[in-house]
Parts: sequence; structure tokens; C-alpha cells
Amino acid sequence: MSTVTNAIKGFATRAATRTLATLGDQMAKLYLAPPDPWPVYRAIRDRGPVYRSRMGYTAVSSHELCARVLRGPGFGVRDSAGRLTEEQMIPVGSVPSLLELDPPDHGKLRRLVAPAFRPKLINEYRPRIEETTGRLLDKIDGPFDLMSDFATPLPITVISELLGIPEDSRARFADYGKLAGQALDGQLTARQQVDLEKAIAALNDLFSELMAQRRVDPGNDVISVLVQAVDGDKITADELLSTCQLLLIAGFETTVNLIGNAVFHLGRNPAQWALLRERPELAAGAVEETLRYEPPVPITGRVSQTEVELAGERLPADTPVLTMLATANRDSSVYPEPDRFDITREGGPEHFAFSSGVHYCLGAQLARIEGEIALRALAERFPDLRPVGTPVLRPSASIRGFVRFPVEVGVRGSGVLRSS
Ligand code: HEM
Repeated sequence: MSTVTNAIKGFATRAATRTLATLGDQMAKLYLAPPDPWPVYRAIRDRGPVYRSRMGYTAVSSHELCARVLRGPGFGVRDSAGRLTEEQMIPVGSVPSLLELDPPDHGKLRRLVAPAFRPKLINEYRPRIEETTGRLLDKIDGPFDLMSDFATPLPITVISELLGIPEDSRARFADYGKLAGQALDGQLTARQQVDLEKAIAALNDLFSELMAQRRVDPGNDVISVLVQAVDGDKITADELLSTCQLLLIAGFETTVNLIGNAVFHLGRNPAQWALLRERPELAAGAVEETLRYEPPVPITGRVSQTEVELAGERLPADTPVLTMLATANRDSSVYPEPDRFDITREGGPEHFAFSSGVHYCLGAQLARIEGEIALRALAERFPDLRPVGTPVLRPSASIRGFVRFPVEVGVRGSGVLRSS
């Protein structure tokens, strides 16, 4: 989940980026976060499997090449000297998080965290996710903002429960998640940067308190699992902190947008919404199709660690390569009619919304369950859900989703979700 913003921000000022964009550099155009990035994605794809930007970045857009780069060999998140490049940094903890480590260090930390995400354990969250979903939707009896009234509080509650954050600390926790999310977009003002630093310090205190408490009174939550690893000298307290912070950002900023993007595309495809209303069991398919069609994380990156050849082009060691996950997900050589949104789609390889290789999303199963429960509940409770006004897109090239998405629940039986 390296960020396009990070990838590009070291390069130049916004003015220089604008100049390059007017000269036709597609990466520069993406950096400017156009409301609809698809023309830019397509332009990159149409120029061949390997696109070289004048900003010093190389982008790959086909399914085959994204798989090659994400799965290695020859690529990692660190350069040939083991240094973390600016494009791979994410705004968490003082020590590298999972996303900032290559094997073997990555595997060591991942093996310690992974038990907390065992499928059986994650499945046990189902009833709690259903209960939270029900509670949030019970409050709705008229027009509401899909993002702030539903899509945001659902994952923040789930991730708080997963980490065992007490009720009275959750608002603080959510504030930090919001600021960290803005940092991912490169959108922080100087004032917000100070707020973020304060929030990180407060969060570290909170996690330290929780660690001390779980040491004497362990539960089933992620912190309890990780405290045992700290006590067994397998990871340090700093690694635990940075893991918890990554889980907050990764688990929160992404699932929110999965829900928003799903409702948006169901709205633009009324026949698909009608199908979901008739057969709510298709909610899992709707989640999968949304992840393929409009992934919340459209791009990630790696760096070549040796000289490599990609589609006949030689890249020297230490070339930053952006993997265009969104474009690979619509590669017509692997998905028939890739630009059609179809919640009953079958066949084809797994999409790259959760990446691939060693960094494959640890929370994929949790996100799928949350998305499925959310969409099913919306279709069952609000069959006439419809957008009102224009949803406001997040001004970001790194995260695809909405800041605001006003909807109304309509009158039962009077119509289907429509885009405005
Ligand atoms: C729709 C929701 C989600 C999407 C689209 C998503 C997407 C991704 C992507 C693309 C990566 C890999 C980035 C890369 O290869 O550079 C990733 C990694 C990760 N995700 Fe997710 N994620 C989602 C939900 C979650 C949730 C709910 C959690 C946890 C509660 C989570 C935790 C993680 C972690 C810990 C990693 C790092 C794995 C590693 O480096 O080994 N994600 N996610």
C-alpha cells in the first residue's frame, strides 16, 4: 500500500507536476488526482505493458506483469542496498511495519501476526459485525451520508474490537485513523501534521496501556496474541506498536471505500442492484466484483533489486515500479468484458485488490466478510436506497473512494438505486 502520492511527492512541486501533466505525462496526471482516473489508467495501458514516466517511475498495467512484480523474484519494497525508498514509506510507527519489510524480516513478523487473522478466528467475528451493522442501520430513518453514517463507523468498530480497544478510547482511535488516512493522500496541512504527531503519541500510550493490561488478562484479540510474542522475545514492543498502527490504517481506510464504491457502482447499474435485492446471497459476489472493478487501493509499488527484464525492457536495479492494480483487474486478456460490472461474474484469476505475493492483504477475509454483511443488510433493509446529489470523491491517487455520499432510503417498493 505504498502511495502514489509518496511515490511522486519527492519528485517535484505541484507546479512542475502540472507542467509534466500538460506535456502528456500520465503519472503526473494521476498525481493531480483527477476525479475519474480511468482515462489516465487506460492511456498508460494503451502505451504498452511497461510505461516510463518522465518523473522517473515505471508503471506496469497488465495482469501478467503486475503478478511478476508483486510476486518477484527481483523486486521488493526495499532497494538493492536494503534501504526503504520514499515511495514505500507509510505514516506509521517508529520501526518498519510489515509493508516496509522484505523477506526474511517480513516473514518473521508476518508469522507472528498471522495467527490473529486465522480464518476460524475471523469467522467468529461475523455475529459481531452483523450486530454492529444492524445497530448502525437501525438509526437511519431518512436521508443519510453513506460514508460518515455507515461505511466509516462499521470498519472502525470492527478493527477496534479486533484490537480490543475499549469503548471510551474509540473516538480517539478513529481520529487518528482519519488523520493517518489524510497523510496517505499527502493532504496534511502543517497544523494537521502536528495533530497527527500528537495523535501517534496518544495512540502509543493507549497501546502501551493495553499491552500491560493484556499481559495480565489476555483475551482473544490481536494485542493479546502479539503480547505473547513480545514476552517470548520474538518481537519488540516497538514492532508491536507499528503493527497495531498499520492494522488501524490498513483495516480502516480501505474497507470504508469498498462499501462506498460498491454502493456507487450498484447505483450506476440498476439491474445489478435489482439482482442483489432479489438475491441478497449475491452480496459476496458484489464485494468481489467491486474489488475487481474499482479497488480501494488502485496502485502499489515495488523496487527492482537487481537488473530485470520486463516485457523485453531492461530495468536497472533500484528502479521504482508502480503496479497498476486497478488496470490489471480490467485486463481483457484474463477477464471477459472487463469494463462490465457483473456481480455474478465467475472464472478468471483472483483480482489484485488485495495485492499478491508475500504482502497479500492480511485482512482480506475480514474485509470480505464486512463488505458482504454491509451490502446484504443495505439491500435487505433499504431496497429503494438511492443517491441524492453528487457524491464527493476523495482527492487522492492512492485511495479510491468517496468523502461524502448522500443517499436516501426512499419508499419501500418504489424504485431502485440510481446514480444522480
Ligand atoms: C477492502 C479492504 C482492503 C483492501 C482493498 C486492502 C488492500 C491491501 C493491499 C493492496 C495490500 C498490499 C499492498 C502491497 O502489496 O504493497 C494490503 C496489505 C495489508 N492489509 Fe489490507 N486491505 C483491506 C483491508 C484490510 C483489513 C480489514 C486489514 C486488517 C484489519 C488489513 C490489513 C493489511 C495488512 C496488515 C497488510 C500488510 C501485509 C503484509 O505486508 O504482509 N487490510 N491490503
